[in-house]
Amino acid sequence: MSRKILVTSALPNANGPIHLGHMLEHIQTDIWVRFQRMRGHEVYYVCADDTHGTATMIRAEEEGLTPEALIEQMRKDHLKDFRGFGIGYDNYHTTHSEENRHFSELIYERLKARDLIFTEEVEQLYDPEKELFLADRFVVGECPRCNEPGQYGDNCEKCSATYNATELKNPRSVHSGAVPELRSSEHYFFDLAQYTEFLKEWTRSGAVQKEVANKLSEWLEEGLHAWDISRDAPYFGFAIPGSQDKYFYVWMDAPIGYMASFQNYCDRTNNVSFDEFWASTSEHEVHHFIGKDIINFHALFWPAVLSGANFRTPTRIHTHGFITINGTKMSKSRGTFIMACDYLDHLNPEYLRYYYAAKLNGSSDDIDINLEDFVQRVNSDLVGKVINIASRCAGFIVKQFDGQLAAEMHDEALWSQITASSGAIADLYELDDTSKAVREITRLADLANQYIATHEPWNLVKDESRRNDLHLVCTQAINMYRALAIYLKPILPTVAEKSEAFLDVAPLTWADLETPLFGHTITKFKAIMQRMEGKVVDKLVAASVDEPNAAKTEKTEKTEKTEKTEKTKQTGQSADNEAYINIDDFAKVSLKVAKIVDAELVEGADKLLRLTVDLGDHQRNIFSGIRAAYEPQDLVGKLTIVVANLAPRKMRFGVSEGMVLAAGPGGEDIFLLSPDDGAMPGMDVT
Ligand code: MSP
Ligand code: ZN
Repeated sequence: MSRKILVTSALPNANGPIHLGHMLEHIQTDIWVRFQRMRGHEVYYVCADDTHGTATMIRAEEEGLTPEALIEQMRKDHLKDFRGFGIGYDNYHTTHSEENRHFSELIYERLKARDLIFTEEVEQLYDPEKELFLADRFVVGECPRCNEPGQYGDNCEKCSATYNATELKNPRSVHSGAVPELRSSEHYFFDLAQYTEFLKEWTRSGAVQKEVANKLSEWLEEGLHAWDISRDAPYFGFAIPGSQDKYFYVWMDAPIGYMASFQNYCDRTNNVSFDEFWASTSEHEVHHFIGKDIINFHALFWPAVLSGANFRTPTRIHTHGFITINGTKMSKSRGTFIMACDYLDHLNPEYLRYYYAAKLNGSSDDIDINLEDFVQRVNSDLVGKVINIASRCAGFIVKQFDGQLAAEMHDEALWSQITASSGAIADLYELDDTSKAVREITRLADLANQYIATHEPWNLVKDESRRNDLHLVCTQAINMYRALAIYLKPILPTVAEKSEAFLDVAPLTWADLETPLFGHTITKFKAIMQRMEGKVVDKLVAASVDEPNAAKTEKTEKTEKTEKTEKTKQTGQSADNEAYINIDDFAKVSLKVAKIVDAELVEGADKLLRLTVDLGDHQRNIFSGIRAAYEPQDLVGKLTIVVANLAPRKMRFGVSEGMVLAAGPGGEDIFLLSPDDGAMPGMDVT
């Protein structure tokens, strides 16, 4: 029976680039979608950029753009990356859309009408310079428990204490460095606790994986709190109807963005009706693919909000884990924070689709990308075992038999073995266990290769009397290749397309397994996929390394893309081509004399030094990439110049609170700028 299925991937944040972590999710979703389509089901796959919140506002300001201009550019970049990996959305919308405003307001009004919304005063830290309330991630200070400096307002990385931002000692705003004030304002709450029983049942209904249900039941047993769905102005988002300067919290309207993107698709195409999928009575399926960090939003808030607003709840939430690369978190200094666009500059996207598929097993465990294993699996399993079947046998058919396949199967028993796995492989795809599916497909490829090795078509061709055997063997091999291409098609759409072209057949579906090709004429074989060169992987890693040098100790993940274009600009052009800034821009930079009072090595970062600098009235911690040029002890007591008003930046080793200035190409040839004696710590550099 044909199913009707709406599928989503989590909406990527509009304030950063797409990286290989995002790609895991979109590739996983796309594989599932393509599989369902091959099975003849009616599938709609929608996504969007998640645009709202303070982070977008701040980044737009940093780049001198309006938030609208920033998010439009980001949406284009994101979509380009996703298209590059063959992700086949039916629609890729934005949460900053009229459809989303409509549904956010509608849902809010419905919740309110059912007394599920109440207001309460909340005390929060406020940045008096920037004039905005500070989310936990935008406050740094000393841990209230262990006094470790440079901790965010939610938990301590050193001692793991969790606390409220208001408990931090010596707190500072990340935006301005200002000391935050405590202010109170009215917030709107969704009364989530009323849904406790409903959620206990829903989370055990098969809608989430078992380990996810267990995690959720811990939260449910602890007791649910009301959910704060509002934020104060200034905020980039949708105003709450009937409120004074209150906006929907980004996580309120983000999942509603799934509906908005679908509505936009319905209006654009007239292919399907919105209500058919979203009415509380809908019997069609809705599937969300997400990472394990956002389970609470999708499996607690979202079903409760939907149910409260009289919409249907999701059929299934498919949760995946996080990727690590070579056993550790993605890291810029190791070159393993790999952006999707950099990957696409170097390697075939289907290598990664294949590798991810080979690793994803339907659980929410983390997934390690081992770069050597990546090269090895693609080359030996995919190219060596699967693609080679076609390249070895197609030539004989084309050259010896005018491209025409024989009229019967040579080894029926073997063919049955190949097709007998169809049901099992389909079940594995359905459950997101592509790892097992790939293993089974590889096993079948081994059988096919054994068959070819046994019959040696390259010897048959030398013996005129065995011409018929040659024809039969190659026909069988081509049919086995076609079956493998069908099994792998959800994972490798381009390989499938190229295979369809040389087989000269219509787009392959799962049902085609039942009808092998006999007497059919194929066309000349063209290369389908090359082996991967290990060297290229090294180049990709090198291109992704981002060890800060002295002149660039400061960098936020957020400004990544802009800096990249800047870098290209600077290296590719002569000095007189450098862009000018005007005097007002320059005046914004506060340069001060500072005295280095301490310098030490940073464990795990062989290019960095941790400097403690004295600015006259206070000291700061600054990380600088000058390790190759200086011994720490030689720096102590030196005067230097720092950029004093850079926003503090959280790095892997702690927070950097400024930047020291140095000159030179980098590495050992880097020279700290040192004012003559007579300058005093804290003096302005003019
Ligand atoms: N905007 C929210 C989602 C809103 S959905 C209504 C968000 N955005 S995100 O850009 O931070 O992450 C998008 C998705 O990518 C999430 O599902 C997240 O789990 C996933 N991943 C982000 N980094 C990841 C890895 N390193 N590894 C695997 N998935 C990761 O959350
Ligand atoms: Zn601590």
